[in-house]
Amino acid sequence: MKTLEFKNGDKMPAIGLGTWKSGKDEVKEAVKIALNNGYRHIDCAATYGNEDAIGEAFSEVFNGGKIKREEVWITSKLWNNAHKKEDVIPALKQTLKDLQLDYLDLYLIHWPVAFKPDVDFPEKDKDYLSLEEAPIIETWNMMLEAKKQGLVKHVGVSNFSSMKLEELLEETSENPEMNQVELHPYLQQNDLLEFCSRHNIHLTAYSPLGSGDRPDGMKAKDEPSLLENPVINRIAKKHGASAGQILIKWSEMRGTSVIPKSTNENRIKENLESTGVNLDESDFKEIAKLDSHFRYVTGEFFVTKGNSYENIFDDDDYKA
Ligand code: A2P
Repeated sequence: MKTLEFKNGDKMPAIGLGTWKSGKDEVKEAVKIALNNGYRHIDCAATYGNEDAIGEAFSEVFNGGKIKREEVWITSKLWNNAHKKEDVIPALKQTLKDLQLDYLDLYLIHWPVAFKPDVDFPEKDKDYLSLEEAPIIETWNMMLEAKKQGLVKHVGVSNFSSMKLEELLEETSENPEMNQVELHPYLQQNDLLEFCSRHNIHLTAYSPLGSGDRPDGMKAKDEPSLLENPVINRIAKKHGASAGQILIKWSEMRGTSVIPKSTNENRIKENLESTGVNLDESDFKEIAKLDSHFRYVTGEFFVTKGNSYENIFDDDDYKA
């Protein structure tokens, strides 16, 4: 399978299993199915509320002896309520404990947004810390410290616009190695892709299939379906593939990592089998026309009137 190479030569398998929205009761089985069927990259986050169940899967699989810990790329993310410098390493240690690991391959700052330490999800202005109270550079320096301590091999960010990346790059001499963002044919992120490749920052595509299982409260009325898009389905038919496979292959071929979520055995397998599909130039041209700068995950849930986090994506590729 295609891999993304890091500065020190480490290689991240391009296709990983996403675990956002995977229920605690089903994710353990999903991760075991994935690993036993060839996945070597699992994407996690503290806020998904299921790292302890994923940890049970890791423990069973790695103790089973067929797959070694070092053969699997494991990513997790620092939640927004642990941005203060004294909170970063304890939050990471909790994730390691839940996942039953002694290191992560990649740890990301989940959002450029900080909540007060006791807030899981903000409801009002006073639930947030301002950027002055929790500057990103201080959180970033603790991520670098975690790397120095050997708790993580690589560090990066998620949901950062090129403007926010640029601000961080100005303040640090050690650039993030990854930016995980929403990325699919409706939100192709060409500018961000170009900016990141110029600065040796890899991208990971989340919500590659349109995240149809988001809670209703997070969905826009009449949001467009990626999996049912006629162009994607025409291309799928042409290659004898599924729409999901075309979407995954498209991301992989653009040189990004991609983390489709599934808890269904057949779809978990089908998604990895996208490696066998090939897209040609005419498919790429057709898909390029689908870019409508549409976001499924708008970040609106972080906006309370007048706080510092309005316009979280700084209008990068953004048309609400
Ligand atoms: P399920 O977990 O039942 O397979 P995203 O990765 O964009 O967040 O999308 C995840 C959603 O897409 C979930 O509802 C998941 O359901 C569904 N899904 C995953 N793989 C496929 C596939 N190959 N075809 C259709 N739907 C899929």
